[in-house]
Amino acid sequence: MFIGLDIGTSSVKAILIGEDQSLIASATAELTVQRPHPGWSEQDPESWWTACQLVMDSLKDQVPAEMAAVTGIGLSGHMHGATLLDETGKPLRPCILWNDGRSGRQCTELAEREPKFMSLGGNLVMPGFTAPKLQWVRENEPEIFAKTAMVLLPKDYVRFRLTGEYAGDMSDSAGTLWMDVARRDWSDDLLTATGLSRENMPRLVEGSESSGSLTGDLCARWDFETAPVVAGGGGDNAASACGVGAVDPGSAFVSLGTSGVLFVTNDRFSPNVEGAVHAFCHAVPDTWHQMGVILSATDSLNWLSGLVKASPETLTSGLGRVAGPSSVAFLPYLGGERTPHNDVEIRAGFAGISHETDESALTHAVMDGVAFALKDCLEALSVAGTRIDRLLAVGGGSRSRVWLEIIASLLHVPVDVPVDGDFGASLGAARLGQAAALQTTDGIFGKPALKTSIDPIRDLTEPYAEAYGRWRKLYPAFKQAGF
Ligand code: XUL
Repeated sequence: MFIGLDIGTSSVKAILIGEDQSLIASATAELTVQRPHPGWSEQDPESWWTACQLVMDSLKDQVPAEMAAVTGIGLSGHMHGATLLDETGKPLRPCILWNDGRSGRQCTELAEREPKFMSLGGNLVMPGFTAPKLQWVRENEPEIFAKTAMVLLPKDYVRFRLTGEYAGDMSDSAGTLWMDVARRDWSDDLLTATGLSRENMPRLVEGSESSGSLTGDLCARWDFETAPVVAGGGGDNAASACGVGAVDPGSAFVSLGTSGVLFVTNDRFSPNVEGAVHAFCHAVPDTWHQMGVILSATDSLNWLSGLVKASPETLTSGLGRVAGPSSVAFLPYLGGERTPHNDVEIRAGFAGISHETDESALTHAVMDGVAFALKDCLEALSVAGTRIDRLLAVGGGSRSRVWLEIIASLLHVPVDVPVDGDFGASLGAARLGQAAALQTTDGIFGKPALKTSIDPIRDLTEPYAEAYGRWRKLYPAFKQAGF
């Protein structure tokens, strides 16, 4: 038996799978995000640990007999979060999250001072990543920076609580911007640029390798017979890829979670910093990946849902099938954007609202706007020479068939929908736990059973291509107007 533990932005999810990877039990605990200033986004590391204990306790309550047979645990988590620990392992401040935009100035300065962030790190210096966040802390909270003994990513803090070990996997660690991504090692030059050294970094392991074992106390609490190994695991996107079997070069998926991601697996480090394409290590050895990331996917729908006081499900199902693009346009830049603009300052907006515009038209506009932003990601990836022939859909938003129809028609690719689209990252984590326990990746990362495949709809492709052309003109206009 194997457990996957996914530290998502809005919830922690645990799943228990059998030797044949069938789902035996699952549990979820909600998390909240704190926004103490405009553009900031933080979480208390203790809240992850509380939620992890809740979901693990719940697995034990649901299937007490099965817990004894667990031999591997895998972790996944939202990427890039800066979790600063003092020398006793205590968090020094709330974690600064992946969608926090405070470090724009530090990004510009670091990129000018150290071009190796782009060549070795393989990415533009963007405020989402960890290195500029530490530079912000160094400049704005020097007393905290001085006490920082260890910097961990969110899932690696949970690992520390589970095992007592400081370790990180390649895929998540690449998102710090302190790695020489091609060599799968920390870069001394990049660490030095932000006043840090290897001493402040966890040991690196591959996602499918063991990073240590669960502590004795926790084994007793959850009834594990022998201490399960805890795998390196992966950043949530690489872990999702492992969950849907996207580990072979060319395999790709679209994730509609809080953020939206277009992910492609590569057999080599393939950076393309123009267009803000992300190039990171994958969670399996000798493999890398590229992705385009938009910051507010289901987050945009959740925002509208909060405003009109109707659940996202009510909003999307109220829409029915769409006959064409919405006459209202939406730019989904609630907290700035990564791919392709790398712009923390830009903000979201509607255009084309009239007397007739109702809740349903706004919902349609939001779903179209997210799809258009994903099309921007596809364009950025194709400039990088990457072709996508088909996509798997994962994440909460993939429950909406109409959203996937819009995406398939606009991106011109068939979209496959797995039976359990929601379990992507936690299933990937569990599979990495299995690989570490069995000490092999052979036969672990199969493709999921499909619920359905959605082909581009002929009547939608042309109108959506035209609407995308109009929508693209909005960003420069908003930018020029100072939004
Ligand atoms: C990827 C990214 C997000 C987070 C949250 O670069 O920032 O996808 O991992 O899911």
